[in-house]
Amino acid sequence: MALVSVVYESALSADRKFEALSQTEQGPGPIPPDGPLARPKSLQQIGVPVEMTRAAAPADNPQTPEKIALGERLFFDGHLSVDGTVACSTCHDPARAFTDGRPVSIGVNGRAGQRNAPTILNALYNAAQFWDGRAKTLEEQAALPIINPSEMGQPSLDAAVARIAALPEYEQAFRHVFGRAPNGTDLVRAIASYERTQFSFDSPFDQFMAGDKTAISDSAKRGWDLFNTKARCNKCHALSENKRDPTFFIDKDFHNIGIGIIRHNVVALACKAEQEIDSGKIIDVDQAAIQSETSVVGRFLVTKKEKDIASFKTSLRNVLITAPYFHDGSMATLWDVLDHYNKGDGIKDPWLDEDMQPLALRESEIDDVVAFLASLTSAQYKEQGMKELEQQRSLSRTSRPQRDTARAFGPKSIQPKPSRNCAATAPETKPK
Ligand code: HEC
Ligand code: HEC
Repeated sequence: MALVSVVYESALSADRKFEALSQTEQGPGPIPPDGPLARPKSLQQIGVPVEMTRAAAPADNPQTPEKIALGERLFFDGHLSVDGTVACSTCHDPARAFTDGRPVSIGVNGRAGQRNAPTILNALYNAAQFWDGRAKTLEEQAALPIINPSEMGQPSLDAAVARIAALPEYEQAFRHVFGRAPNGTDLVRAIASYERTQFSFDSPFDQFMAGDKTAISDSAKRGWDLFNTKARCNKCHALSENKRDPTFFIDKDFHNIGIGIIRHNVVALACKAEQEIDSGKIIDVDQAAIQSETSVVGRFLVTKKEKDIASFKTSLRNVLITAPYFHDGSMATLWDVLDHYNKGDGIKDPWLDEDMQPLALRESEIDDVVAFLASLTSAQYKEQGMKELEQQRSLSRTSRPQRDTARAFGPKSIQPKPSRNCAATAPETKPK
């Protein structure tokens, strides 16, 4: 809790260290509106971890219906951004399971970031927020996009508060909910309270686990077995080697699985990050993650530990709706994801996780694991999921950019030794 209040009290002013790397012509688009898919969710869904859900709110920010309603309004409101054009929902659109469908997000003035927007569904259970875990709580997280120059672009959290406070209905709502005028602390509390109502289960897989053996196809059942055996997904998407995790599919850890390292000079960027980024300042880390190529060093931005270079976290719920995939949105279909894992460590990555290795999955086995992943789609997104699966399937029949059968069925390749000679490497300044 201590960390959170430090963040509020500093009023989070952004000193600008990084210029946006790229800008798009088309801009962020119209703000996606509130609607039925965004309403607070019911605890009656099959598969909800009820106790964990109730326990998720911190003692200093208990859930109340009025606070949740205020947070919901703020989540869809462009007034939080510097020019009124971007809301949280711009990048976390309920129609796309609270993602934006883009490889990387686009904020104010069409500025493109470096990372793919994760869903906020089930973010309430995360041990830490963001791909690199740089924020501890949802409260701490919510302030950062507001002041990031490539997201909502406000010069400070207080500037956003001033915009909101000028609107009489917010002035009244804050007084009603918190008993005082609008301020940064309460602003992020209301948003976090709303996010804690966005738990999403009730998928065919949950029904299967609850005892309905016909809820998922035979292919998906084989996929769930492969996930926990030959395909080795359980090495990272499970509670432990022997303990399956049918709730979140995470191990609350960070891993390097070789994404990004193909297109970026990670060694040089780690050196640059080590010198230029003050990991003790969350705003520095946030700007580096969203606005600079050092983004690819992942968790290393936060810890500066060698083992964390290019490592990230993940979860898998509703993964069919949250394409494209990985922290940089670099893969279009679940077949691409499987092709990546299938070839294992056939890439030159000294920090690759030891659990990555060639899997020798046959085509039918790849289809089975995809069928399992598709069964994690919540009832609210059922029809959209079926459409998306067909689209991905047909794309995968003509385009498999990640497929490398020789590597997938070959031996585990010899990994280069980690060596970071910062003096010998000059960082690249431009992406691609
Ligand atoms: C311009 C696009 C954009 C806007 C606007 C935006 N986000 Fe995000 N959001 C992202 C991206 C990209 C990430 C991942 C960044 C990273 O991990 O470095 C993210 C991450 C998150 C996460 C972490 C989820 C997880 O699983 O780790 C939460 C929660 C979140 N955003 C909530 C919000 C809230 C609340 C707002 C409004 C105050 C907001 N976002 C505004 C793009 C955006
Ligand atoms: C060594 C640990 C590890 C193993 C093994 C592993 N994963 Fe992952 N998974 C991760 C990490 C870490 C990420 C996020 C990486 C990134 O974005 O750079 C991820 C991301 C994903 C994503 C994308 C999620 C998103 O929202 O974009 C999918 C899908 C996925 N994994 C499925 C699988 C499947 C299926 C398997 C088994 C074939 C598997 N994973 C094996 C660690 C692992």
